[in-house]
Amino acid sequence: MKRTTTYGNKNNSKKKYIWIGASVVVIIAAVIAVFIYLNQNDEKNQNAEPAPAEEEKAGQEETAKTEEKSSTATNEEEPTEPKDQQSQEEQPLENGGYIEGQVLPTEPTIVEGVVIANKKYPLPSTYAPGESESARNAFELMAKDAREAGFELVAFSTYRSFEYQDTLYNNYVNRDGKENADRYSARPGYSEHQTGLAFDIGEKGKEDLWLTEEFGETEAGKWLVENAYKYGFILRYPKGKEAITGYMYESWHYRYVGLHLAAEVKEAGVTLEEYLGIE
Ligand code: DAL
Ligand code: ZN
Repeated sequence: MKRTTTYGNKNNSKKKYIWIGASVVVIIAAVIAVFIYLNQNDEKNQNAEPAPAEEEKAGQEETAKTEEKSSTATNEEEPTEPKDQQSQEEQPLENGGYIEGQVLPTEPTIVEGVVIANKKYPLPSTYAPGESESARNAFELMAKDAREAGFELVAFSTYRSFEYQDTLYNNYVNRDGKENADRYSARPGYSEHQTGLAFDIGEKGKEDLWLTEEFGETEAGKWLVENAYKYGFILRYPKGKEAITGYMYESWHYRYVGLHLAAEVKEAGVTLEEYLGIE
């Protein structure tokens, strides 16, 4: 009896160990199977194309980042030319109106005592006179009279260095493309702002109209068109003259040329290029 019992106990223990062993093998196999399955799925996901919605989102984020970057850099010193400048009717000029392969001169071009800065006659990169004192005084006088007429004029952009124009122009190129940017922003060395004699003018309290065509339709814009010559300023880029000036209509960009010339140009009703015969 005893022996039988002993034998029976041994047998039971053996069975128990076999069951435990088998269970451990099954559990290990299951863990391995799950691991292999998860691994395969991971590989599949890595090779998959992003879902269209994700791609779109990534694109939007990239665009937002670019715009933020470009507007931050552009806005550091002055307002930014609005995108709808491109909606004006005239066609872009060939090569943006520039002479292919032209290099910047070592001296500025002066015609009849007038410093020229346009797409045919650029300035040396080193030309850095700062804001003209005569132009500033004339502007202040004009602003005083405009105030009496009911408008608070602001000169929101005047002298720009070669380097600053370079940054500004490239920001616009990045935002709108070269062909569009060339219609409203000068390449470095070609901007009249580098002469210190160009004043971008707007009205205080109507900042949303700064650098827009609509400014020319406001009472302040019309007052300037009629009266700026009395202080020595001319509207430099009038409507419909892009083929001559190289730029689309800029209701805000005035150039100081002195009392005599300003009156003559206004009277003749032509652009500075036409008046000086350098178109
Ligand atoms: N907006 C004028 C053309 C300039 O950039 O000088
Ligand atoms: Zn300007």
